[in-house]
Amino acid sequence: MNHKGTKELETNRPKLRRFKLDDAEEMFNNWASDEKVAKFLTWKEHESIDVTKKILDEWVSSYQNEEYYQWGIVIRETNELIGSIGVAGNKENKLMCEIGYCIGRNYWGNGYVAEALNRIIKFLFTEINYNRIEIVHAVENVNSGKVIRKCNLKFEGILRDRGLSNRLELIDLAMYSILRKEWKD
Ligand SMILES: CC(C)(COP(=O)(O)OP(=O)(O)OC[C@H]1O[C@@H](n2cnc3c(N)ncnc32)[C@H](O)[C@@H]1OP(=O)(O)O)[C@@H](O)C(=O)NCCC(=O)NCCS
Repeated sequence: MNHKGTKELETNRPKLRRFKLDDAEEMFNNWASDEKVAKFLTWKEHESIDVTKKILDEWVSSYQNEEYYQWGIVIRETNELIGSIGVAGNKENKLMCEIGYCIGRNYWGNGYVAEALNRIIKFLFTEINYNRIEIVHAVENVNSGKVIRKCNLKFEGILRDRGLSNRLELIDLAMYSILRKEWKD
């Protein structure tokens, strides 16, 4: 493995960059406080900006670690911070990791996440040397499944009662993966 940390990456429309402490207001307003964004996630919508600040604090200090990958998704044209994408589970001994993402409701339906995800998959395979990238989504979260398939990950099956929702209910997860040998630029 050849870890490089959260390096700035460009795509056609979004830019992917490190979070900063002063992103708290945009993060809170654009996605983190929204119950609809968090509906299928493991975390609950933030009740106050203090929660957002605390999380940003943890993310920003984690950037010291070269194995830590957490990007803010910024629309290049407007410079708006619309969401986050990062490596959620890093199982280095098996050369694999898991990616998670979310963007604000006002930005859904523009294909932004697929653009960001494609770029990150390329980075993780070609620069860091991962062998397998996996993504899981709550079975009910069909929009996430569409993004994953657009990025050519393969459906591997349903993991029954494998997830815990932010309402603390056990949920089925759909598992997808892509291997370096089958990835194409
Ligand atoms: C799931 C999510 C990442 C999709 O990102 P996105 O950039 O909007 O994805 P796309 O633009 O490719 O749209 C995917 C599908 O969402 C649906 N969609 C698009 N716009 C929508 C809107 N305004 N409202 C509801 N659904 C919409 C469409 O069915 C679309 O499929 P299509 O492109 O085949 O028409 C985004 O909705 C999100 O961040 N949701 C909340 C957090 C989350 O669920 N994260 C994933 C956890 S596994």
